[in-house]
Amino acid sequence: TYVVTENCIKCKYMDCVEVCPVDCFYAGENMLVIHPDECIDCGVCEPECPAEAIVSDSDPQATPDWLALNAKYAMVWPNLAAKETPPQDAAEWDGVAGKLAHLST
Ligand code: SF4
Ligand code: F3S
Repeated sequence: TYVVTENCIKCKYMDCVEVCPVDCFYAGENMLVIHPDECIDCGVCEPECPAEAIVSDSDPQATPDWLALNAKYAMVWPNLAAKETPPQDAAEWDGVAGKLAHLST
């Protein structure tokens, strides 16, 4: 599976949902996650993310915590199949450390 990681938080560009062939993204208020049982591992979303927040589960950035967070909220948050308007301050948050503290659940 592929996994969304910390830099998505408060960036939430949503370019990823436009390319996913199986619509397996689920949207929280300020982050998206990937449903691990629905992702077909095609990899097309990874280069589309302007924040480089999407990685394969074989990537060191795909820690057990991020895999668990994706699995958990994919069961809770609603499916998102089309891009919406990203946050106005998305660019200001790109690359900011410690964004997990800002996750809206
Ligand atoms: Fe969707 Fe493919 Fe990305 Fe998985 S790897 S989330 S199937 S675009
Ligand atoms: Fe997040 Fe990147 Fe998608 S910032 S919403 S994973 S395009």
